Amino acid sequence: MHVVTASDFEQWRNAARQCMLSNLAPEDVLWRDGREACPGLFDAFEKEPAPPRANQSHSPTVPRRFMELATYVACHRTPGRWPLLYRLLWRLTHETPHLLDIAADDDVLLAARWEKAVRRDAHKMKAFVRFRRIMEADVEHYIAWHRPDHYVVRLTAPFFADRFSSMNWSILTPDDSVSWNGHALMFGAGAPRSAAPADDQLESLWRTYYGSIFNPVRIKLKAMRREMPRRFWPLLPETTILDDLLQAAPARVQKMQSYAEGWEQSAIDFLPPQRDLNSLRAASSGCRGCPLYAPATQTVFGVGPPNAAIMIVGEQPGDEEDRIGAPFVGPAGQLLNQALVEAGLKREEVYLTNAVKHFKFEARGKRRLHKKPNRREVVSCRAWLESELAAVRPQVLVCLGVTAAQTLAGPMFRLSDQLGKIFATDFCEHTLATYHPAAILRSSPEGAGAKQQQLIADLRRAGAFVRKIN
Ligand code: URA
Ligand code: SF4
Repeated sequence: MHVVTASDFEQWRNAARQCMLSNLAPEDVLWRDGREACPGLFDAFEKEPAPPRANQSHSPTVPRRFMELATYVACHRTPGRWPLLYRLLWRLTHETPHLLDIAADDDVLLAARWEKAVRRDAHKMKAFVRFRRIMEADVEHYIAWHRPDHYVVRLTAPFFADRFSSMNWSILTPDDSVSWNGHALMFGAGAPRSAAPADDQLESLWRTYYGSIFNPVRIKLKAMRREMPRRFWPLLPETTILDDLLQAAPARVQKMQSYAEGWEQSAIDFLPPQRDLNSLRAASSGCRGCPLYAPATQTVFGVGPPNAAIMIVGEQPGDEEDRIGAPFVGPAGQLLNQALVEAGLKREEVYLTNAVKHFKFEARGKRRLHKKPNRREVVSCRAWLESELAAVRPQVLVCLGVTAAQTLAGPMFRLSDQLGKIFATDFCEHTLATYHPAAILRSSPEGAGAKQQQLIADLRRAGAFVRKIN
């Protein structure tokens, strides 16, 4: 039994794609509802924006009507929506292409009923949300509380953004919250109480939990802080809870800050009009698509021939890569070089790059310890990798380690399931995932040998595949 968790449509779709690729029948998949797990207020701010995936539309050969239906059904509150959708998808693709026309079918009937409930609930939300005006550092902000029956906040948010485009507003619900600052929608966790707050409680709820995150004035203040030496901070005209929060829970605040700052931009905003490798490399050096650019030395873009048959994708530059400005030049790079030689490949012939282009680290004295990029950083940065893939169009794509693989194959990807296999992703028909050389370096002496052999075998497999198809 394969256990997968989904909280929203996007996650379900990625997971369902993986399950379909692995040919898992509906009865072989146990769907868990991520919503039921009741994420904590701040954890839920880790939630991803819908990943911008330009070339996604070609992949599912399912009717558009199903995708539309699924978008609504995914917002229904019942945990049964995930297995139902997967069953429908499976039956549509394996048994009955016109399944959706069979209105008497039990699954179709149920899906139609859930879709209707969600549509009605979304409509109700649009009609009944009432905003209350508050003043926040001389800026008007409108807040509203609503309790929808289903998870319709993301569904209805564009409507409110359109309708109230020139206002700053937030809508809080027990499940989700959404804010609009005049140019972007930001989603966050639900309001932490199940009872509808009275009007004045609503204001304090907003100030305590949401104001510091969503208010554009505050976000600007945080940016000023970063630019300003610490001793001047007390002079900033900011007196409210942000200071307490800053002292009380640095890690939490850091999360919130990266949430607030990373949200509005991604690498997409920095893509140049020309998409050849030189233009891309030049533009990437100015990327501010996520907060990782700030503490790092430089952007580390990919290197290699523009027509390479093999592209190898790692996780992110390490300490040496960050200083030198080229991928795979540190210890992991040495190990990779050796593996390439043993696999009969020439380093100059492959295109080498990373899922994330800036070094993420934690300073420990003089040392800079590698930190794994989170999903949001990976998603923010993906436009560079996608552009490299589009420019190079490799015949085989080799993902080193799970970060690279999940970047391209979705967050549900498990390395152990796919080792040694060639599979298709939206980005390359022939994708392989194998161990990361840094993981081999960290392994116990007993484990390292086998992993290294696997890496070599997979690189050799990539080379053989290229020779076979040419
Ligand atoms: N590890 C990676 O994933 N990439 C590099 O460039 C170096 C180490
Ligand atoms: Fe841009 Fe990627 Fe660097 Fe973030 S990590 S700033 S998205 S290049």
